[in-house]
Amino acid sequence: MSLPQTSLLRASQRAMRQMADRNTPFIKDEWYVVAFVTEIGRALLERTIIGQRLVLFRTTRGEPVALEDRCAHRSYPLSAGKLDGDTVICGYHGMRFDKVGDCIEVPSQATCPKGIGVRRYPLVERGPFVWGWFGAETEADPGRIPATPWLESDQWVSSQDYFHLPGNYVSLHENLLDLTHLTYVHAGSFGTPDYARAPYEVESSDGRYRITRSVVPTRLPPVWAVPTGLGHDHAARIATSEFVAPGLHVVSVTFYDTELAPDKRPEFIIRTCHVPTPETHGSTHYFIVHSRDFAQEDSSITEFMRGQLMMAFREDVEALTKLEQVLAEDDPERYEISVASDAPAVAMRRYLLRRAVPMTDAPADRGTVANSDLHASIRP
Ligand code: FES
Ligand SMILES: [Fe+2]
Repeated sequence: MSLPQTSLLRASQRAMRQMADRNTPFIKDEWYVVAFVTEIGRALLERTIIGQRLVLFRTTRGEPVALEDRCAHRSYPLSAGKLDGDTVICGYHGMRFDKVGDCIEVPSQATCPKGIGVRRYPLVERGPFVWGWFGAETEADPGRIPATPWLESDQWVSSQDYFHLPGNYVSLHENLLDLTHLTYVHAGSFGTPDYARAPYEVESSDGRYRITRSVVPTRLPPVWAVPTGLGHDHAARIATSEFVAPGLHVVSVTFYDTELAPDKRPEFIIRTCHVPTPETHGSTHYFIVHSRDFAQEDSSITEFMRGQLMMAFREDVEALTKLEQVLAEDDPERYEISVASDAPAVAMRRYLLRRAVPMTDAPADRGTVANSDLHASIRP
């Protein structure tokens, strides 16, 4: 393969600079899921979110608390100390911090200096998630937490899982916004050969990016065919991936029998919250909550689907781990091209860059950014 001409290489690299990538600063004025509700209890839990060390616990009344996991005295991690009532005692020299992070006791002296402490992060519990705010505390508006009402509805049944992903969160969002990869990454699980060529529609508005793929008619893989009973070759599989916020991506899939009239056929919906909370620039807390709106009472279906899906999502984790190893290399000559189906992902990455670096000169979204001329020209 020959290298692209210098001008085309530069054009490609200029386009890449207008998109967020693994090195883009984190967006701080956002809500991110810091943990599942069930993870936080009366033991100190350490966790790094957008590069910031937190220590998490519940007060004696059950309220979740997140403090900076770095003692104000000599930086010892508070998570290595002790929870005493609603206070944390540093495990190094014994300073005591209350639930809002104020230092209230210094054992080596009679009085505690005023105005010292560690940062407190606002938390809100919603459904299975604990969301944390990383911007200025005065701007922590719970109304900005992405809505997930189905997670609190008894019409839906859910299961939850977690991966520690050795990859960056931008790549995970991009993976979810282009399900072309199902045919390749998931060839052995829930991908089918017809997926990559299925027609799709794109919807973009500032901050929300959505792609809908209609695979109709199709034969469903077992993970969907077994629970829906649509084990034939005339099923419909309509999948919508939506970037909702930097900390949430939702994939909703509707299945039905194409040979039944629209008013006579049952429809089955599977909806998955993919929650990519950045840990560092090269690692992500990947929380997953997987829901369905049918057979709510059947726990065997829950377990079957959970097992199959985690096998499939592990394929994403493995692929994104490999990708991260390449992206983390410092290669000034690297270039990438975009094709038509990348349009929502490119728009999403431009949005993330604008949010992270507000003074960027990245242009506003202009719908598709795939450059077919460029694409054609730099092929070997
Ligand atoms: S480092 Fe925490 S009390 Fe000294
Ligand atoms: Fe995938």
